[in-house]
Amino acid sequence: MNDHRLRTYDSMLGLLCDVDNPTPIVRLNRVTPYKHTQVYAKLEWYNPFGAVKDRVAWNLVRDAEEQGLLGDVKNLVEPTSGNTGMGLAMIANAKGYKLTTPLSDAIPAEKRNVLRFFGCDVIELDDDLCPAPGAPEGAIQMAMDISEKPDFHMLNQYVNEANPDAHYRTTGPEIWKQTEGKITHFVAGLGTCGTITGTGRFLKEQNGDVAVLGVHPAEGHDIPGVRSLRQLGQTQLFHPEEYNGTVEIDNKEAYALCARLNQEESIVAGPSSGMALAGAFEMVPDEPGNILVVVFPDTIFKYTSSVRKHLPHMFPQETEVASAGGDPAAERTLRLLLDNARLSNDVIDMGQVDDLIDDEAVLIDVRTPQEYAEEHAEGAINLPLAELEEQGDKHGTLPADKDAVIITICNVGKISLSAMMLLKSLGYNNAKNLEGGLTTWMAEGGPTQM
Ligand SMILES: Cc1ncc(COP(=O)(O)O)c(C=O)c1O
Repeated sequence: MNDHRLRTYDSMLGLLCDVDNPTPIVRLNRVTPYKHTQVYAKLEWYNPFGAVKDRVAWNLVRDAEEQGLLGDVKNLVEPTSGNTGMGLAMIANAKGYKLTTPLSDAIPAEKRNVLRFFGCDVIELDDDLCPAPGAPEGAIQMAMDISEKPDFHMLNQYVNEANPDAHYRTTGPEIWKQTEGKITHFVAGLGTCGTITGTGRFLKEQNGDVAVLGVHPAEGHDIPGVRSLRQLGQTQLFHPEEYNGTVEIDNKEAYALCARLNQEESIVAGPSSGMALAGAFEMVPDEPGNILVVVFPDTIFKYTSSVRKHLPHMFPQETEVASAGGDPAAERTLRLLLDNARLSNDVIDMGQVDDLIDDEAVLIDVRTPQEYAEEHAEGAINLPLAELEEQGDKHGTLPADKDAVIITICNVGKISLSAMMLLKSLGYNNAKNLEGGLTTWMAEGGPTQM
């Protein structure tokens, strides 16, 4: 028998959270800019598997079983940016299902490794950090293809109403009870939008004056779990008409406040928590009687490689570790080279690209010929990285002049970064890389052709 008072449980599933076993809310005292408004963080890593998505994973499976959608199916497939996969993997392990998770190889290694450790069949793809429907090579398309197979079922957190329903049933009632119905403002980061939509619906049913506010990252962000405005177009659970407002927060603000939460409030929050709180501070006024609750989805422990990238001043140079450790030296050195290249001035934005193209710079698309044929930046020449690696410049695509300015481009700016490094090693010192790749090119109105 599960006993929340004694904290004794029949199985891990007994620890799933609801109004009788809520995740805690904790008052913020040092990072808050307010004199009057009280700020509470809802710590979702107190869910049994460490993140807000445990609620959704449980409810997606419960709902599918109750609707008889699973029958004898033993294989689940779900594209995920990590936390849904982890929650689903544990629910699947407990209930005897097998989980397959197509995902982007941009997701921190920590998360991909944990998914494998949980027993998932992980399929890594060159995709956006947050899977994009309609991207033929993407995680969502891969999952849809797999779900066609007879013994597979896709729960699809991006369209399934059981996602927001999980929060309508649990997160909303918990917050209403924990604030004794005095909450005035509710803030959440926007990923699938299950958290804000489900919790918001419940809170507004209790008191229509509760302000429901959403926070999303800027285009080209590196905050796992949440979506830029463009990416929000890809979830069917984004209902801005039900919210009182949304705001955009960039990487820098999100990681900076995330660090302050850990160092000043001793709260082990992750980057999307820093993002949500920064947005809350922008939208919520400082007034007596204001009670603000912000959802903190998960901890920092899965993002050390991300904070290392975005807060490099906090960490020693890797080389010391490489000379100390020495093994696998080559891999560490390569990662250090890529990290440094990523932070260098050779990684450029669209403004700089426009200037360089006016000066006759050469645009090299390093994706596969199929991807290139589908759509590419106007004027770009195709030289697949694989070909460059294996055969060098066998077709004479590259300019003879080694001082020529070459700009490499791919889907999201990662493969092209390696291509830029390779070109430099071939003597093309003025090789550059477009940050965010074709995704940024198109988002900023760059012309494309088939
Ligand atoms: C770390 C993190 N933050 C925020 C979110 C956003 O939550 P939702 O998908 O409910 O909008 C997610 C969702 O996966 C997440 O994993």
